[in-house]
Amino acid sequence: MHTPTALPTDPVLVMGAGAIGCYLGGCLQAAGLPVVFVGRPRVLAALREHGLTLSDLDGQQRHLGADVLTLHETMPAGVRPSLVLLAVKSGATADAATTLAAALPPGTPVVSMQNGLSNTSVARAAAPGLRWLAGMVPFNVAELSPGHFHRGTTGTLAAQDDAALRAHAAAFERAGLPLQLHADLGAVQWGKLLLNLNNPVNALSGKPLREQLMDRGYRQCLAALQTEALQLLRRKGIAPAQVAALPPHRVPLLLRLPTPLFRLIATRMLRIDAKARSSMAEDLALGRPTEIDALCGEVVRLARSQGLSAPINARMVALVEAWPQRPVPMGSKAMKVALQLPD
Ligand SMILES: NC(=O)c1ccc[n+]([C@@H]2O[C@H](COP(=O)([O-])OP(=O)(O)OC[C@H]3O[C@@H](n4cnc5c(N)ncnc54)[C@H](OP(=O)(O)O)[C@@H]3O)[C@@H](O)[C@H]2O)c1
Repeated sequence: MHTPTALPTDPVLVMGAGAIGCYLGGCLQAAGLPVVFVGRPRVLAALREHGLTLSDLDGQQRHLGADVLTLHETMPAGVRPSLVLLAVKSGATADAATTLAAALPPGTPVVSMQNGLSNTSVARAAAPGLRWLAGMVPFNVAELSPGHFHRGTTGTLAAQDDAALRAHAAAFERAGLPLQLHADLGAVQWGKLLLNLNNPVNALSGKPLREQLMDRGYRQCLAALQTEALQLLRRKGIAPAQVAALPPHRVPLLLRLPTPLFRLIATRMLRIDAKARSSMAEDLALGRPTEIDALCGEVVRLARSQGLSAPINARMVALVEAWPQRPVPMGSKAMKVALQLPD
């Protein structure tokens, strides 16, 4: 007889109830896990008014009423989570880590669901008593309306192998979030970072992801950012993992194809909701700090660690940082000129 695997009884705590935190936490709660959300007043007020709606590009829609949500603006006293999901933007990592450490017992496992490579080391430096684990979210989540979080692309979650995550594997599976565990997540994180190099291209373009990817000029910008990163990774002996449909070194070749051919071949890459945008686009629109330092900045640091430079990624950092002075969407030709790419 099949005995269902018991779910953890202590709650999962979401630190940073935004797009990723609400989506992941909501899926886990819908699967029967107790979940505690810690977030900002704006997001929590919307959840109190509308409840939490989760939808995805496969047409699924679920709703959790406000009355079943456990929402806190600050860390609740005495909470003993079996697992914490860290889902703040990279710039907020150190603060969030300090806040968690002040409230949680030493050794509490915290998995970073953030983009970039440095979040767990930043968090560990700020709060060495907690157990920091790296994670990777491959799909895009956007807040379509207050309290409604929509997954607009596909992919399988990944994280560093650890007993705490093994204990939650069945719950994640039941939540429709199967979790691949890896002895070393570095290669997976680099694989994801290469894809995330599209975030600044998308943000500066002012266009939805799908429309931006249908413009060869923007794809050439992304291909140039990726090629520069891939060369540095090869020199460093790091083989980035395949996170998308193609091995990472083939993606720039695909991106550089003429659009009719690209459209034919890149069917999986283009399986994106027509309205989906990168979260950096929203950051620029709302005048919030971006994660450019955790993306192109990481490539610049990789170059520096080898006594080299990464001029194309460095120029992209400068372009994103200059946006507040001139918040005007950039056409693909202008972007190629600004990155100093050949015509
Ligand atoms: N969205 C995506 O599609 C996606 C996909 C994969 C990975 N990721 C990664 O996931 C991470 C989160 O992204 P997101 O798009 O979910 O960001 P988000 O929507 O901005 O959510 C983060 C939330 O956490 C809040 N927060 C920050 N510090 C806090 C603290 N100390 N206590 C309570 N709340 C706090 C933020 O408030 P403030 O705005 O006031 O700081 C914000 O409401 C990022 O690293 C991102 O790169 C995102």
